Amino acid sequence: MMATVKESKEFLESKLAGFKPDVALIIGSGLNGVAALLDKPLTIPYADIPHFPKASVPGHAGQMLFGELAGKKVMALCGRKHLYEGTSVAEVVYPVHVVDSLGVKVLVVTNAAGGINPQFNPGDLMIIEDHINHLGVNPLVGGVNGDGDVRFLDMSTTYTTRLREKLEKAAEELQMPLRRGVYAATLGPSYETPAEVKAFAWQGADAVGMSTVPEVIMARYHNIEVLGISCITNLAAGISAKKLSHEEVLEVGKGAGDKLIKLLNGFLTAL
Ligand code: HPA
Repeated sequence: MMATVKESKEFLESKLAGFKPDVALIIGSGLNGVAALLDKPLTIPYADIPHFPKASVPGHAGQMLFGELAGKKVMALCGRKHLYEGTSVAEVVYPVHVVDSLGVKVLVVTNAAGGINPQFNPGDLMIIEDHINHLGVNPLVGGVNGDGDVRFLDMSTTYTTRLREKLEKAAEELQMPLRRGVYAATLGPSYETPAEVKAFAWQGADAVGMSTVPEVIMARYHNIEVLGISCITNLAAGISAKKLSHEEVLEVGKGAGDKLIKLLNGFLTAL
């Protein structure tokens, strides 16, 4: 374990009084309402945790919550770093090392994404079946600690069937429509051109966003099981004539947050 991660872990454990989370949630843009899910959570601002990167984009709260949800011990990370902030990929995935250090074995990642699949509508939730990495970086380059210990990590069963089936079952019980598809990650911060969106569609992408993939790769490195959910906040460029705005992304994300809360509750109950 990296010395910095060990210090983050020891700080958190000193606050947690023996509470050991089983599941970690990484909560994306405008989806912070999910935090309301937890019963009387212990809240720890990222800024208080030694070596922990601070979130800085509007709509990203920058705090960690620990508490019970649907009988499961959960930690929720509200706010994440993005590569488009100029952050190094090592910093983007730092929270995943911390999650791993606490012994968590299941990671749920949520994000906001533009819909590429023509059947998708803003407000839809999409279960991520697989991803395409267009970020141009990978957190395993050069070895995780920059130690040159390069691993050729298998990514063929990244978003496990076990967790996807549990989410699908929870959605069915709630009679909540759930999309499924492939998430393409781009660097941003500019949104895509219509030509890029067309190219991603040809490649098999159903949604496009600017996050998640580095954290998911690092989670798989640590052998943490991953579930991914995208909130389709808008139709991607060229799919609709509408201009894209971050405000709209946050607004629709907030609206979809309620649905996401119900869904996660059902999922965690089934887990
Ligand atoms: N493109 C990229 N990232 C996004 C989008 C989009 O259309 N919507 C929300 N995040």
